[in-house]
Amino acid sequence: MLLSLLLAPTMRVSAQTPPGNDPGSQKLFNMEMGPNRSIFRPSHDPARTANGLAKTPPMGWNSWNKFGCNIDEKTVRAVADAMAASGMRDAGYQYVVIDDCWQGKRDADGNILPDPAKFPSGIKALADYVHSKGLKFGIYSDAGSMTCGRRLGSQGHEYQDALAYARWGVDYLKYDWCYTGTRNSEEAYALMADALRSTGRDIVFSICDWGVSRPTMVDKSMPWEWGEKIGNLWRTTEDIYDAWAGRKGTSLGMVNILDLTEPLYAYAGPGHWNDPDMLEIGNGGMSDVEYHAQFSLWAMIAAPLIAGNDISQMSDATRAILLNRDVIAVDQDSLGHAGHRVRKDGDLEVWSRPLADGGRAVVLFNRSERPADITANWTDLGFPANVALKVRDLWAHKSLGSVTGHFTAKVAPHGVVMIRLGQ
Ligand code: GLA
Repeated sequence: MLLSLLLAPTMRVSAQTPPGNDPGSQKLFNMEMGPNRSIFRPSHDPARTANGLAKTPPMGWNSWNKFGCNIDEKTVRAVADAMAASGMRDAGYQYVVIDDCWQGKRDADGNILPDPAKFPSGIKALADYVHSKGLKFGIYSDAGSMTCGRRLGSQGHEYQDALAYARWGVDYLKYDWCYTGTRNSEEAYALMADALRSTGRDIVFSICDWGVSRPTMVDKSMPWEWGEKIGNLWRTTEDIYDAWAGRKGTSLGMVNILDLTEPLYAYAGPGHWNDPDMLEIGNGGMSDVEYHAQFSLWAMIAAPLIAGNDISQMSDATRAILLNRDVIAVDQDSLGHAGHRVRKDGDLEVWSRPLADGGRAVVLFNRSERPADITANWTDLGFPANVALKVRDLWAHKSLGSVTGHFTAKVAPHGVVMIRLGQ
């Protein structure tokens, strides 16, 4: 009742004011624009500030790619143990994130409770355990009435849920976009961002709006256009699945996701990153050569490095990929400039990323089915042709001396050669 009294005069004024003529009218509900249109663009609010977190892309682990809904506290504890014991924590992996399906019911006061069969000790105890390993703890919810796995969402409970997360010791929230009806995504994510900020706890906010339109969705959202001061990372596509290329349902293969994300490189920067979804390294659907490519290219585009395998049981080959500190250093470079493709000759590509020391990370990427020589020309990387640069091979972990003008290497099918160039 109070709400309708407050809104009524505003709506009348809006109906009489031609949109665009009066700057104030942008903030008013416009009946003709439809119910999903934003009344007020939170990203345009000059008073809004970023939360100051995730100055480099977040690194960690998430349960979804390997375990799906089959997740419980025992598994999460084993993963936290392995993060510490495998060297991943010391290499920079920080967040242990439980994805969908941890939720049970709400109590009589509306407080969200975990599924008692899967998380009998409660979320606070689990977060404490993860913290005791020198790691951070993340959780998942959804801006709709239900999560994508049909568990309870946070719509209408945003502040209550944010408070629960803060009390449990949550450091990272992945917030999904299923069952959102006619909600406007920018508003929905800004509301949860505000709820998280109001708790006073530092919580990295992962926007899981995939930037797509579906028949059931009124909103066609591009989170990279509004996410900078609302969250710390936003999905650029629908879900990844563990394949080199292709489409399975709404999910996409690795190179499909790479190609959709590449043109968005200018949107990324310290505190706000493009998220091409999680790593599939070690899940078995791609070859190790292809997993080298995923890790290298994700580092080139400054993607969050969120492992998605069972790290309590990984092979030496998987461990060697996830623990490549030279590649991790590229991903975590403090300049925060995402790289992109600078040359494409059919299936043979050169990618470049500017680094804080003035150098470049470079990937020679062979999408073809045959080994091929690929050349990176200094001029394609923004360097004069006559300058001599030191070359370091980031997978062979060795220095290749000083080179002038260009660098050529033979690259395996579906593989990469990744180097760092500098003075
Ligand atoms: C969506 C998200 C995935 C995962 C699932 C969980 O599909 O994009 O990353 O969180 O929901 O149900």
